[in-house]
Amino acid sequence: MQDLQSILDEALTSLSSIDNAALLEDAKARYLGKAGLLTERLKALGKLPADQRPAAGAEINRVKVAVEAALQNQRDALAQRQLTQQLASQSLDVSLPGRGLSPGGLHPVTRTLERIQQLFHSLGFDVADGPEIETDAYNFTALNIPENHPARAMHDTFYLDPRHVLRTHTSPMQVRYLESRKPPVKVIVPGRVYRCDSDMTHTPMFHQVEGLWVDETVTFSGLKGILTDFMRRFFEQEDLKARFRPSFFPFTEPSAEMDIGCVICQGEGCRVCSHTGWLEVLGAGMVHPNVLNPLGIDSERYIGFAFGLGVERLAMLRYGVNDLRLFFDNDLRFTRQFR
Ligand code: FA5
Repeated sequence: MQDLQSILDEALTSLSSIDNAALLEDAKARYLGKAGLLTERLKALGKLPADQRPAAGAEINRVKVAVEAALQNQRDALAQRQLTQQLASQSLDVSLPGRGLSPGGLHPVTRTLERIQQLFHSLGFDVADGPEIETDAYNFTALNIPENHPARAMHDTFYLDPRHVLRTHTSPMQVRYLESRKPPVKVIVPGRVYRCDSDMTHTPMFHQVEGLWVDETVTFSGLKGILTDFMRRFFEQEDLKARFRPSFFPFTEPSAEMDIGCVICQGEGCRVCSHTGWLEVLGAGMVHPNVLNPLGIDSERYIGFAFGLGVERLAMLRYGVNDLRLFFDNDLRFTRQFR
């Protein structure tokens, strides 16, 4: 009995000073393991005289229970200490201000498109859209560009198969729109177009806005007035200069290209306008009878004007960007400047 009491005392003292789980398991083995001190005592019971065994067995069990309880206490204490340490190391200060998410913004091309749409809408134009995969019939033939016509070569077309192309301009929508509506029509069609082309002022995908006004009283001077008014409002320059140069598009006659006074140098001459003081911004003209007549529209009675402008071109000028490709690199350092 004397021996058991000293085992218990020793166990209680050593267990209470253990501060790691592995050592605690070693200590358990020392007292309760297969060859542990208390297990040995239990095994030795058989050697005692029969009348002493019950009392001795009860006493060993009392010590065993006490050692087990001390072990469990120590395990709980270690777990609690570990939890406290973990909580302290992972503490977070809920009173700190949040990091915040920086707000996104519209892409400069989207902003330009929205601005163009809004201005034409205020001039009485509806807005429509159409397919980016086009048949070559709509993209070319219906626009008075027959097969083998050299004008097809002007467009650097992406062919999907011999009959389908990625549309090279928004002009096929002149035909699609007039197919489903009777004049008068007054509409713009913004959208993506594709050409096999890439340099500082050309990208393989870009945006155009097509404009079409067909009515009985449409005139070329009306076309000039509307486009000049639009450009002045777009660039917020009341005295912006504009001029129309003769040009050629198979689907308009007469055809013209519109130049505006350089908005960068105000006509003084700079790199952007190649020192001419003028910038070309769009193509336009009076809709060719060869486009109207096959649609059942009497070109003696109805007359139309059409124009097609490059959206990125206007965005470059408005925001002072000198390389068109920057719009499509999606470098956040660039796009963030337009938030
Ligand atoms: C046309 O595409 C005609 N459909 C425009 C038109 C419509 C004329 C209606 C008459 C009546 P053009 O190929 O010039 O025309 O292109 C029009 C504008 O698109 C150009 O002024 C230019 O600003 C822009 N553009 C042309 N190619 C590219 C390109 N690869 N990258 C970016 N912008 C381009």
